[in-house]
Amino acid sequence: MTKEIYYFTGTGNSLAVARDLANKINGKIISIPSMMEKENITIDANMIGFVFPVYYATNGFSGIPLIVERFLNKLKDLDSKYIFSVCTHSGNPGDTVENLQEIINNRGGELAAGFTLKLFNPPSVFYKLKTAILRKELENQSNHEIQERQKELIENSKNKLDIIYGYISHKKKGLIETRSKFAKFLSALLLHLLIKPVFSRRYRKLSNSSNLKFKEMIPLADKSFQINENCNGCGICAKICPVNNIKIINNKPIWQHNCENCFACYVWCPQKAINGEIVSYNERYHHPDVKISDMVNNKIIKRS
Ligand SMILES: Cc1cc2nc3c(=O)[nH]c(=O)nc-3n(C[C@H](O)[C@H](O)[C@H](O)COP(=O)(O)O)c2cc1C
Ligand code: SF4
Ligand code: SF4
Repeated sequence: MTKEIYYFTGTGNSLAVARDLANKINGKIISIPSMMEKENITIDANMIGFVFPVYYATNGFSGIPLIVERFLNKLKDLDSKYIFSVCTHSGNPGDTVENLQEIINNRGGELAAGFTLKLFNPPSVFYKLKTAILRKELENQSNHEIQERQKELIENSKNKLDIIYGYISHKKKGLIETRSKFAKFLSALLLHLLIKPVFSRRYRKLSNSSNLKFKEMIPLADKSFQINENCNGCGICAKICPVNNIKIINNKPIWQHNCENCFACYVWCPQKAINGEIVSYNERYHHPDVKISDMVNNKIIKRS
């Protein structure tokens, strides 16, 4: 049986998970951006995995990154495949797995098993509030502190990855990790009353637009990236961006307003030269087992 795992990643967590599971099941990993030039995608493998991060706000609050949704909507002939997914997150995966299940159903397939895996421990709400009030970058927190916090989480995630492996290697079906009905009811209220207005306001500011629909503002949010004097024009940000959204002009990165908000450019810049409002609540973390060279292979391939 052939097995393929399709992944999307910004900070490397989903790539590390895809790689680990592929090793366990003796399968192959393929980056989602590398498939995006195709109009329709037929996957020959009998077992298919999708591994990607939860981005709750960026796609109409579905949790599925925009590029992942575009990819899924290109898939054909999914019937008779064993399909599983792992959504990596930082504590609030919401209904991402259920929303993925719906898209796969609409494409004629069935999500046999959908897992969530916490792989990032964000700074506390108190810390973020302080940042917002004092208008200071989260920068003050030492890299060592972030890495230590993350090491423990990654260590703990190994147990769950073994459980996921046990489940999918026996081609079991029916486990869909999602919220209870009560949690859904509460979050629907919260979404309507608080989250949507707050995020709309934030993205209107980031994208510098006044009359666009929410989803249309996301790719433009890169207008709020800035670079500081540490930038040496090395071009790594342009090489890493999974959707080729950065051009280096006169030795400086220029964002092209086709952004997936994955923050790979921000977290992988070796000079810590990228900042701006869009990343003002995000830390410069990347998965310790993922290298810049791995990230470069994630990209959209431009065919000449
Ligand atoms: C734009 C954006 C939105 C995010 N939204 C959520 C969210 O709603 N809930 C959550 O638990 N984590 C959220 N996260 C955190 C990521 O899902 C988490 O860090 C993930 O492991 C990153 O995976 P990656 O390294 O493969 O990119 C968000 C991250 C980004 C960049
Ligand atoms: S990776 Fe950093 S230092 Fe290199 S060009 Fe981009 S912003 Fe400048
Ligand atoms: S510009 Fe930066 S945040 Fe936007 S898609 Fe590229 S790497 Fe990700």
